[in-house]
Amino acid sequence: MKDFRNKVAAITGAASGMGRTLALELARRGCHLSLSDVNERGLAETASMAAALGVKVTTAKVNVADFEAMTAWADDTARTHGKVNVVFNNAGVALGAFCESVSRKDFEWIMGINFWGVVNGTQAFLPHLKRAGEGHIVNTSSLFGLLATPTQGTYNASKFAVRGYTEALRQELDMMKCGVSATCVHPGGIRTNIARDAKMDASIDKATGGKSEVARAKFDKLLNATSAESAALQILKAVERNERRVLVGMDAKFLDKLVRLLGSAYQPLTTFFAKKSMLG
Ligand SMILES: NC(=O)c1ccc[n+]([C@@H]2O[C@H](COP(=O)([O-])OP(=O)(O)OC[C@H]3O[C@@H](n4cnc5c(N)ncnc54)[C@H](O)[C@@H]3O)[C@@H](O)[C@H]2O)c1
Repeated sequence: MKDFRNKVAAITGAASGMGRTLALELARRGCHLSLSDVNERGLAETASMAAALGVKVTTAKVNVADFEAMTAWADDTARTHGKVNVVFNNAGVALGAFCESVSRKDFEWIMGINFWGVVNGTQAFLPHLKRAGEGHIVNTSSLFGLLATPTQGTYNASKFAVRGYTEALRQELDMMKCGVSATCVHPGGIRTNIARDAKMDASIDKATGGKSEVARAKFDKLLNATSAESAALQILKAVERNERRVLVGMDAKFLDKLVRLLGSAYQPLTTFFAKKSMLG
């Protein structure tokens, strides 16, 4: 997709963070928007900021984990806007938990949003993107889709899954030559609400001697490397260049190289770092 002027973009998780900054940057470039989130208040704020930039904006309260709701939203977007060119499967949540004790409920919750939400968005929008003749699927994984770290096993599982799914999807779209492409996004630490809104399993409280809120604050501080505005610019540039993946921020670029250099030998380093910075 060479540029976004007069295109239509759908964004999940548009009430906050990178979903919001993507919406505003796309609006500045003349791209019409279909925005969704479960947080209606934040969604309305993003929508009014984007509409003030002169593009058509529609909103819907949609839980990305619900395939039927995602399909209805995709169909409605195509009907109301006349077409859809890009979907940003951006919505995501975080969970601090140990693999041994995490509840099935919490594990299924995070996989439902972070992984199945991406699959739902891809399958719901792909027929419309193909019909438009020029389309792009932008799936958000993470730096934690490239390396794993203690207490993030469920998040790692969801984001490694997004990576595998999107890399296969991109190759299938290349084979189809259908005018639709895909990019996998791997942000490093980005200043957003994700750590503040993260769920913390009771096992974290136990491991930190009742200081899980201190661990959360430390984690929030770690995610301070890049602004959400800069992240949106880096993501849109990658879509314009039809890149297969984008590493957002210097931390993501550096750690990706380190993991490729060290192979699985990176793990003692992340164990040490997690103990020092979060659990210590
Ligand atoms: N912030 C970071 O450091 C970072 C790093 C790597 C990857 N990511 C990923 O980037 C994406 C965007 O996160 P962010 O950092 O902007 O966080 P954020 O918390 O600011 O925004 C996430 C949005 O997703 C929405 N959301 C949560 N559950 C939902 C559901 N079931 N259905 C629909 N919407 C839902 C939230 O309401 C929120 O508006 C996520 O996929 C996240 O995992 C973030």
